[in-house]
Amino acid sequence: MPFGLPQCANLAYLSAMRIGSLTLASNLFLSPLAGYTNLPFRLVVREIGGVGLCTTDLVNARSLLEKNKKAFKLIETRPADAPLAVQLFGSVPEEMRDAAIYLESIGIASVDVNMGCPVRKVCGVGGGSAMMTDLSKTAALVRGMVGAVKIPVTAKMRLGWDDDNLTAPDLARALEDTGVTAIFVHGRTRAQGFGGAVNLAGIRAVVQAVKNIPVIGNGDIITPRAAQKMFDETGCAGVSIGRGAFYNPWIFQHTLEYLNGGASGLASRNENGRLVSSLALPKEIALPPEPLFAERVRVMCRHLDLMIEVFGEELGCRMFRKVAPWYAKRFGPCHEFNKRAVQTSTRAEFQDVLENYIRWRQQFLDDNGELLPRFRPPPMVASFMREPASVQREQIPVPKGPVEVW
Ligand SMILES: Cc1cc2nc3c(=O)[nH]c(=O)nc-3n(C[C@H](O)[C@H](O)[C@H](O)COP(=O)(O)O)c2cc1C
Repeated sequence: MPFGLPQCANLAYLSAMRIGSLTLASNLFLSPLAGYTNLPFRLVVREIGGVGLCTTDLVNARSLLEKNKKAFKLIETRPADAPLAVQLFGSVPEEMRDAAIYLESIGIASVDVNMGCPVRKVCGVGGGSAMMTDLSKTAALVRGMVGAVKIPVTAKMRLGWDDDNLTAPDLARALEDTGVTAIFVHGRTRAQGFGGAVNLAGIRAVVQAVKNIPVIGNGDIITPRAAQKMFDETGCAGVSIGRGAFYNPWIFQHTLEYLNGGASGLASRNENGRLVSSLALPKEIALPPEPLFAERVRVMCRHLDLMIEVFGEELGCRMFRKVAPWYAKRFGPCHEFNKRAVQTSTRAEFQDVLENYIRWRQQFLDDNGELLPRFRPPPMVASFMREPASVQREQIPVPKGPVEVW
């Protein structure tokens, strides 16, 4: 591994932070997940609380300029969905600049540039991860965007194209010089896809490469303890969570409670989120309890209702077919639910499926209505917190669809 792990850890965690001119209530971020981080999901996460900034799915800059309907649906927002970053992808400097100007004009808080997408269609035209292979061209494109808007411009990247081309530290430094206000880094290369453990030392190398701007660590954070380890071992200013939020939209709130409970007096970062002193977290802080089944069901139904509000009943229900099984992953035995939930087309049908499932699930409960121990889902463990031999065996599932290689 070309990057060395630090000997000692930084132990300061949560705080309000600034990204350029934008002040965020927390340094916990929702990562873009194409097909999933739409308005309804962002509202669900925000209603539970704890998240500082949400980002849209990636949006094609050209489609936005052409006023393409689908691109406009991707940036649909409302006041309760603030602050919001829109993620743009593209490789034509003028289009990226003009799309950023447009987003600023409609009140979007921040623009993120996608430099991590591994999909061939995007890389083939010089966008996504391909931007990590030509640093001066990428810096010139981003400079044009930064010069054209007052809102923050940020970049989201992987560690590099492959293990022989770990360009993230150099790219981050070059982007800082262009005026980018934060870097998000997923601790894997493009070649890795989602395989193997997230490389925390690789993220740390990016943290060390920049002078002042915050670096946000990303990859496989599925528990508050994994967020803590990401902070400790990388020195990152914030953490960004994608699939972990899909498993568990409570993760931001729980991470906030866990890390705030663990360290009193956390004001040891400067306003950009960079560490200026460190505090020790008492060793054994209890994790917030997992949400009860009834709470999971409440939030799942709220999510569906928002999908229907935003996309209409038929499309909303159809889109929810791929969402409901994510909630069900923590229900205990759930095949009866999944097999029917993926066939529903109306709210009433979904309600029916849910009520039947709740009756069926009773056979797995004790007298207090809790799942019997042998039916409880096992605790979740991030790739970088497992024994190395088990990492390959226990990947976090990647949702099915054209974005499987993200
Ligand atoms: C289905 C899916 C869609 C994704 N879409 C995007 C995207 O639109 N833009 C982006 O920068 N990253 C995208 N990613 C990458 C995530 O933002 C994130 O970097 C990655 O999943 C690792 O973080 P996680 O383990 O917390 O999910 C996507 C990942 C997945 C699994």
